[in-house]
Amino acid sequence: PVARFTLDPAFTVGDVDPRLFGSFVEHLGRCVYTGIHEPGHPAADETGLRTDVLDLVRELGVTVIRYPGGNFVSGYRWEDGVGPVERRPRRLDLAWRSTETNRFGLAEYIAFLRRVGPQAEPMMALNLGTRGVAEALELQEYANHPGGTELSGRRIAHGDKEPYGIRLWCLGNEMDGPWQTGHKTAAEYGRLAAETARAMRQIDRDVQLVACGSSSRSMPTFAAWEAAVLAETYDLVDYVSLHAYYEEQDGDRDSFLASAVDMEAFIEDVVATCDHVGARLKSPKRIDLSFDEWNVWYLTRYLRQAEEEPLDWPEAPRLLEDVYSVTDAVVLGSLLIALLRHADRVRIACLAQLVNVIAPIMTEPGGPAWRQTTFFPFAQASRHGRGRVLDVRIDSPTHETRKYGTVPLLHATAVRADDGSVTVFAVNRGQDAPLPLEAALQGLPLTEVVAHTALADADPEARNTLDDPERVTPHDVPGTTLRDGVLHAVLEPLSWNVIRLA
Ligand code: AHR
Repeated sequence: PVARFTLDPAFTVGDVDPRLFGSFVEHLGRCVYTGIHEPGHPAADETGLRTDVLDLVRELGVTVIRYPGGNFVSGYRWEDGVGPVERRPRRLDLAWRSTETNRFGLAEYIAFLRRVGPQAEPMMALNLGTRGVAEALELQEYANHPGGTELSGRRIAHGDKEPYGIRLWCLGNEMDGPWQTGHKTAAEYGRLAAETARAMRQIDRDVQLVACGSSSRSMPTFAAWEAAVLAETYDLVDYVSLHAYYEEQDGDRDSFLASAVDMEAFIEDVVATCDHVGARLKSPKRIDLSFDEWNVWYLTRYLRQAEEEPLDWPEAPRLLEDVYSVTDAVVLGSLLIALLRHADRVRIACLAQLVNVIAPIMTEPGGPAWRQTTFFPFAQASRHGRGRVLDVRIDSPTHETRKYGTVPLLHATAVRADDGSVTVFAVNRGQDAPLPLEAALQGLPLTEVVAHTALADADPEARNTLDDPERVTPHDVPGTTLRDGVLHAVLEPLSWNVIRLA
């Protein structure tokens, strides 16, 4: 059996917003401390930023970087993280039962983004759990006002004459979740988000605002929450957020490999909910989606550990340091395909997180930094997935899965760059057999397979570790052809594939 699709530039999904390749830095575990920031490390610059990590962040190709949480933000006082470091307070971080030293804060985050490069855009989350409108406005003025007021003057006195120019703001984090400090009902949160948005637009009409959607599609309030929040905020916000994490459960690998089925359904549900509210309001405005937390995360394991051995307020503990397998990387690739297939409405997405904490980049304190298996699909998609997504209608052999029923073995998308070249991203979800692929090209004057690489391994459990950091990397796949307008390839079992055509 062969999997097939047709590529035709007349049939497209939409343009890829570069912010689809965003990431996330939370004050959690070692994401910040000994992750991106480690004064005294041999590779640290004069401000303590690890240049070995900066190099990997650039290679990963991340654009927008969300900060400072996550659950952390709902107990955070942004003022603690500005001004002279020696005067910054130590505080309890209730979200992760850790001690926050505040050695890293807003100015260090902006300096980090500037070191990453011009493609790195801030996305600042506000604390709407234990704080509210006034603190949000103060942070906005401190960060963005050029000067001449107490708050902007404070930023200048702290050493940053130039305003930070933060455009993109998250109105809280996961406010639907009972675990969130300051958790609210949809009605309570909707009002607070609306009031915050209205006030922030009094300072700057053009801020871009993300309202909290559901923390996952399985939340009991899912969809009703979005509808209620948007009823209050529709005219005031630009995006609604989605969060989703996937893990293999009970050895059911076929369902895990089909996780993108859930992600795509989630996106389509949220689009429908947004448009339903828009229709009710008779509004010409369209709310887009910010998938600002997504990844593979072995959450069940973490929750069990947290329950059995609650932390005793350590500083930067090893937390959520999942070590990803080839299988995890193939799933992550498939999740990227899901995002691209909905690029018309998903404009922002953040891989949670960037370093050490469920992350594509790992570090050892005082030691090296390396790429996890999941680094590769993200880096390749960010590099080659820029342009316009073609509408790929898949005709594929299927198999049965416990969670999602009948699922196509092939998951794929294709992106056409401005220079006319096309990149196909494809996953073979089958664990046992190679999957032959045939793609007919219509109206695309392409003649050459520039490269076909795959991430796959005889051992689907293979991982990169401190001792063997380059065990898994993508390899070239020979034999892929493009003749008379038809692409022929064979996708290895359980593989992520990037096929570049010119
Ligand atoms: O990314 C880890 C956590 O997952 C975040 O802090 C929270 O927003 C989500 O539940």
